[in-house]
Amino acid sequence: MLDPRIRIVQGDITQLQVDAIVNAANRSLLGGGGVDGAIHRAAGPELVKACRPLGGCATGQAKITPGFRLPADYVIHTVGPVWSGGGKGEAELLASCYRQSLALAREHGVKTIAFPAISTGVYGYPLDQAARIALQTVQTFLQSEAQIETVFLVCFGQRAYETYRQVSRELEAS
Ligand code: APR
Repeated sequence: MLDPRIRIVQGDITQLQVDAIVNAANRSLLGGGGVDGAIHRAAGPELVKACRPLGGCATGQAKITPGFRLPADYVIHTVGPVWSGGGKGEAELLASCYRQSLALAREHGVKTIAFPAISTGVYGYPLDQAARIALQTVQTFLQSEAQIETVFLVCFGQRAYETYRQVSRELEAS
């Protein structure tokens, strides 16, 4: 049974009124395209200024900054793996992005958090496999977690939303 605190939604993560949104960043943490670009645009120039002293972020790790002009109080920047066929530990690195982001959220008293579909854009991770990792990793984390009340998995577009819903049904049935 999927934890009811997990909510699969469709939309633009920069507009969500949550305590923290997660950014699918690159290792420089200095911005980019995709959701990274959207978050930096919405947060304003203070975001990249806050990222600069962090010294980047390794793949699978996460770092936190304020959200500045975003509705969210925090941005948790995590760096997903680039898909290279599945034989280079991509699955574990992607799971680590979710785990590390949730652990950081807990440390900062975050109750509501939203994730994009990390690595499924520029980094080429197959959407269904990434969705399964996201759902399973969040589910496992929540089993020993009481502070976090809602985890939104934000799908940008109909195809992503339907894939997440389908994977969620498969996990419920398994
Ligand atoms: N809200 C929610 N999800 C979004 C948004 C948005 N505003 N914009 C894009 N997405 C989705 C994409 O559709 C994709 O499903 O975020 C997911 C992740 O795609 P990318 O943003 O391309 O991130 P990723 O695949 O992890 O690649 C990271 O891309 O933008 C650069 O600087 C970033 O180098 C890094 C790389």
